[in-house]
Amino acid sequence: MNQTAQLTNPLREGLRIANTPSPAVIVIFGASGDLTRRKLMPALFNLARQRLLPPGFTIIGFAVTEWNDNDFRREMRAGIAEFAGEDITSSPVWEDFAQGLFYIPADFKDAGAYQTLLQRLKEMDNDRGTGGNRLFYLATPPPLYPDIIRQLGSAGLAKPARGDQSWVRIVVEKPFGHDLDSARALNAEVANVFDEKQVYRIDHYLGKETVQNIIVMRFANAIFEPLWNRRYVDHVQITAAETLGIGGRGAYYEGAGALRDMFQNHLLQLLCLTAMEPPVNYDAGAVGDEKTKVLRAIRPITGDAITEKTVRGQYTHGWVSGEEAPGYHEEANVASDSRTETYAAVKFFVDSWRWEGVPFYLRSGKRMTKKGTEIAIQFKRAPLLLFKDSATGQLEPNLVTMRIEPDEGLSLRLEAKLPGLSVNMRSVTMDFDYESLAAEQPSAYETLLLDCLLGDSTLFARRDWIEASWSLITPVEEFWSQEAKPNIYPYEAGAWGPKEADEFMERDGREWRRL
Ligand code: BG6
Repeated sequence: MNQTAQLTNPLREGLRIANTPSPAVIVIFGASGDLTRRKLMPALFNLARQRLLPPGFTIIGFAVTEWNDNDFRREMRAGIAEFAGEDITSSPVWEDFAQGLFYIPADFKDAGAYQTLLQRLKEMDNDRGTGGNRLFYLATPPPLYPDIIRQLGSAGLAKPARGDQSWVRIVVEKPFGHDLDSARALNAEVANVFDEKQVYRIDHYLGKETVQNIIVMRFANAIFEPLWNRRYVDHVQITAAETLGIGGRGAYYEGAGALRDMFQNHLLQLLCLTAMEPPVNYDAGAVGDEKTKVLRAIRPITGDAITEKTVRGQYTHGWVSGEEAPGYHEEANVASDSRTETYAAVKFFVDSWRWEGVPFYLRSGKRMTKKGTEIAIQFKRAPLLLFKDSATGQLEPNLVTMRIEPDEGLSLRLEAKLPGLSVNMRSVTMDFDYESLAAEQPSAYETLLLDCLLGDSTLFARRDWIEASWSLITPVEEFWSQEAKPNIYPYEAGAWGPKEADEFMERDGREWRRL
């Protein structure tokens, strides 16, 4: 059990942050890439600024680009200046942080490079007091993961250097596999070399403040839980809408599509947090168990049900927020006849006592009208009986909305009487805005990197969760990939998705929320 879980009320006391990690080295594989520059380094630097990193904290970049330590420091400094949200040119924290940056130019498949790494790590333990603690971060293209994992195993780097006195952990970036078989194969590669408790499969959505708040909101308040079930909930909508297109990621996205890119990981995580039973503890084991149970209770969508329960779309040329946007087929590295979906909507049912018969509608798309990620729990309508003689036509159902981004917050829609002599009603919203608690929130990567260093894997995806999620997504992918099944509907960039997605909801007598 990790330290966080031993304490009585970790959520309330914020213990994840109260702990300082032990001295350690992070080795970033693929350190000359975009993820390191945009996300990892700014997050690590911000942790350093908040004095949350231990003394002697060290980062070794390991990648093919021919840099030396100084090049690495220069490049990372530029990345931090651009993405950490602060001018660091005169920051004393930077001087200290930069002293801990080192670089090994290497071929990921070269066994000799891992011996060099081993030597460097030993030097760091002596010179910088890093105590044999190592966090390996896989930030390379995924096809390289198996080679790196095997090489770490062969070089003896997967075992703690000082037995119980030290630790070794590995972070695996998404995408974790491409389908069920490849995810299983990757899990098996990892398990050949590392114990499951050493493995941190990252999903940056789990590090977002409001995503963590789903658990707090549900289980630290007594008023929601009694209503959080099929007796009171009509349906749930989970939306992740983006205005951006695929940018420079055409080559990756062509092989992925919205279902793999957003559903297998982020949206199913949100569904699990929304639908899970209360865990017996707030720790990785208990939360992981409950989340996996949700996936196991989801009715698989297979065969002809796929046509009925899914919609996919692809954006065409249009206008988003006043700017002209190319169609998906005109994007770089995209085939002119590509059938990759940039929008998907899926209706899932969670076959459990709590949720029997309640649809969970999930949707995500690129180049939509507005950026917004939210979970909306729509309750059943109150009976109109009492107000049937009033001017109000129909009561609006109550709605709890958890806004994940932007404008993080929580709102509750209620019916209220309009002031006046007759009984007229309208919907009002009680709104809680996260900004009112803290103007600055840690980025998802700050939260998650700190958790890895502390050894808390509560906010990471477990092996069984990954396989269970792919087993829901893979049949749909396979069905969609058959040319005979057309159904890829165009939508203009800047729209809320294809009109068929609206019809899909209308068939159920419901409608998508306009965020
Ligand atoms: C990533 C996807 O995992 O999440 C991207 O690969 C997507 O395609 C991104 O744009 C969305 O993340 P966020 O934090 O901007 O909602």
